[in-house]
Amino acid sequence: MKLVGLSGALAGSKTAIAVNETLKTAGRLNANLETEMIDLRDFDVEMVKGYPLEKYNEDTQIVVKTLLSADLLVIGTPIYQASISGVLKNLFDHIPQEGFDGKVVGMVATAGSEKHYLVPEYHLKPIISFLKGTLPARNVFVHTSCFDGSNVIINEDVLNRMEKMSEEMIKLYTSN
Ligand SMILES: Cc1cc2nc3c(=O)[nH]c(=O)nc-3n(C[C@H](O)[C@H](O)[C@H](O)COP(=O)(O)O)c2cc1C
Repeated sequence: MKLVGLSGALAGSKTAIAVNETLKTAGRLNANLETEMIDLRDFDVEMVKGYPLEKYNEDTQIVVKTLLSADLLVIGTPIYQASISGVLKNLFDHIPQEGFDGKVVGMVATAGSEKHYLVPEYHLKPIISFLKGTLPARNVFVHTSCFDGSNVIINEDVLNRMEKMSEEMIKLYTSN
């Protein structure tokens, strides 16, 4: 069972930290889980131009193939302008239709405003559903105030949500 975490932020590190923390939590829950992290800061994913995947650079191909190789995905986005990040949307545009079929896909969002807690529900969920991913009922929203000055997540409620979402994702995958 392979769980891939994806951080769709190029600016800061909060989204990657939140996704990584979720992967660690899931790994503690199930010893058979192999985890891999894709942090988009480490890859030069090209803009979609309508070409077949093999026409793009190696990084783009690695990122897309790694996502497609997953059984479970944790997708992290920073909230930008009341939506998901542009780099994440561009990456989704590289994924074939139905590319998430059979995968369980959890959402993690980091944000500066509590008012945007429904953004993943309305902007990320429809894309995951379109790609035929199976979504757990829970997701994880991490406001800036949930991190301490060293970017460690100190909010217990957030850590609990990561655990609950991971439990649900593993259950959804293993019961299929
Ligand atoms: C361009 C930009 C737009 C943003 N827009 C929003 C927004 O609409 N709502 C919000 O809650 N936070 C917004 N933020 C704050 C980020 O979502 C927040 O700082 C996030 O944790 C950054 O993640 P990162 O550290 O992984 O880059 C914005 C930040 C940037 C840089």
